[in-house]
Amino acid sequence: MDPLKELFGLTADYAAQFLGSLDDRPVGSKATVEELRADLGGPLPMQGSDDVQVIADLIAAAEPGVTAIPGGRYFGFVIGGALPAALAADWLTSTWDQNAGLYVTGPSAAVVEEVALEWLRELLHLPEGVSAGFVTGCQMAHVTALAAARHHVLEKVGWDLLSDGLQGAPRIRVLVGEHRHVTIDRALRYLGIGARQIEPVAADEQGRLRPEALRAALAGAGGPTIVCAQAGDVNSGCFDPLNEIADALDGSGAWLHVDGAFGLWASTAPRFRHLTAGVERADSWATDGHKLLNVPYDSGIAFCAHPGSHRAAMSVSASYLEQTDPDAARDQLDWTPEFSRRARGFPIYAAIRALGREGIAAMVERCCDHAARFGELLGAEPGVEILNEVVLNQVLVRFRGDDEVTRATIAAVQDEGTCWLSGTVWQGKAAMRISVSSWQTSAEDVERSATAILEAAAAVSGSLR
Ligand SMILES: Cc1ncc(COP(=O)(O)O)c(C=O)c1O
Repeated sequence: MDPLKELFGLTADYAAQFLGSLDDRPVGSKATVEELRADLGGPLPMQGSDDVQVIADLIAAAEPGVTAIPGGRYFGFVIGGALPAALAADWLTSTWDQNAGLYVTGPSAAVVEEVALEWLRELLHLPEGVSAGFVTGCQMAHVTALAAARHHVLEKVGWDLLSDGLQGAPRIRVLVGEHRHVTIDRALRYLGIGARQIEPVAADEQGRLRPEALRAALAGAGGPTIVCAQAGDVNSGCFDPLNEIADALDGSGAWLHVDGAFGLWASTAPRFRHLTAGVERADSWATDGHKLLNVPYDSGIAFCAHPGSHRAAMSVSASYLEQTDPDAARDQLDWTPEFSRRARGFPIYAAIRALGREGIAAMVERCCDHAARFGELLGAEPGVEILNEVVLNQVLVRFRGDDEVTRATIAAVQDEGTCWLSGTVWQGKAAMRISVSSWQTSAEDVERSATAILEAAAAVSGSLR
């Protein structure tokens, strides 16, 4: 047999068998770190091994430590599954192994990103003419977009960041919602803006930035300013009031960045689109393909309404690089912090083609409806409190009004294995977080998981009584 066919046949057969087994396996990993080290570790091999054997051994040793993220009952963090067409396109991405930094090293990869950019823009209702960079995740999308913001606001006050750097530059004010995601702070840190330079703006009980507090913070102050709002809080799923925030910034010259890691996808679904009203008024946006679009890791996207500033912040050139006239085609390294890079457009392109606009809207609405059903099923039980307004796909649950019971219930659910979810602290109270982000989640998965959660809570309450 052709050795490549044997190797890839084995891998594809295993992939189908693994994905087919997800419904029947515990969702969390049961392996201990010691077991995984014992099975995967060992001395540096001196000689090579047969490829088929390497893959067979890898499967046998790694599988016990693989979590059922691609299945329908993984509700941890905010983690999407992988649509079959997107997964297959991801395999092709590795098969083709294009260096998607330059047009010349992968013309199809460059054009697919160009096409996907336009499809995404339309799906997410962003303004015409935005630029985009396809990056590893929302973290790097923030870095990309905020680098463009930093360049733009400094240029407006006459500071040449590219030549003079940040040392000695006019101070940039950065205002962020009290509940912004931690990746905003880290992106700012990468860009030379430290924790003490970030000004948190008060939020309401759901976590929504208060526009009147933003207005007060902006009053009288001028100079280079960046404001970070969010569409979809990682815990409550709430949305900052983007129209009111944009109104508050009107005429101030401040740059508005929107963290829409998963919440931006509300724009794609008619029943949820109102949540992102005003989103088109921002200057930059960061989102993920690996959350509600259900593209495999890693997939983030930065959009920018000022392509000139975006390109200035990211582009690079060297005599040995064969760069393409930007009016003719797109060299991706001009739009991302990376140089050599994976052709991330293929899986996004395949996901959009596989579902179409209507299929994506249906998937997003399904996730949100499942989250609402979790809220109903759990909230109907005495002693169980839903802490947030379930506006999108996130549910925060607290048991018996008690931190210890809530944390023990989360641990019991993780251990039991029907589903997997994790915890947080919301407004000073321990809470269980349920995030419904997978195309695979069915109504039955929700019923099964809610039953498992309530049984775990009953067992915990009984044992702590
Ligand atoms: C609101 C928000 N922003 C940013 C991120 C970071 O995204 P990533 O892990 O893709 O970098 C997340 C992750 O859950 C998020 O929920």
